[in-house]
Amino acid sequence: MKLRPWMMSVLALSITLADASRGRAGSLESGKAVFARCASCHSTRPGQNGVGPSLFGVIGRRAGTAPGFRYSSAMTAFGRVWDPGLVSAYLADPKTVVPGNKMTFPGLKSAQDRDNIAAYLSSLK
Ligand code: HEC
Repeated sequence: MKLRPWMMSVLALSITLADASRGRAGSLESGKAVFARCASCHSTRPGQNGVGPSLFGVIGRRAGTAPGFRYSSAMTAFGRVWDPGLVSAYLADPKTVVPGNKMTFPGLKSAQDRDNIAAYLSSLK
């Protein structure tokens, strides 16, 4: 059988998905750099909310529960506890994972960036 370009894409995609489900560990330092893309809306200080809620302690916290932040009803209703895998999935496609949420951020295309940011967020406690 001759390998065609589309077959290569299918192959690449399945490798990407397998990688994602294995949950590689991210790098805290690189995640800190990626956080520059979140910092216009999110603080890492406890209780300091901006356009978005403070992300201090977000890993292990139930979605939609940072004190003093007015969430969309979609995020409150989502109600799951953030863990590194869930944050990574949310950041891949915020509008699909939590339909109707009000974070106007298109998402992070790179799985490596998402793993790194999840590692960084895990350190904020
Ligand atoms: C343009 C502003 C903006 C940017 C940029 C942004 N966010 Fe958000 N984010 C929000 C808003 C607003 C919410 C609250 C959503 C809601 O209530 O529906 C939110 C919610 C979240 C939540 C859920 C928090 C909770 O308490 O349940 C996480 C996690 C999150 N953002 C992570 C990130 C990360 C990581 C980045 C950068 C890669 C990022 N966001 C970039 C505005 C932003």
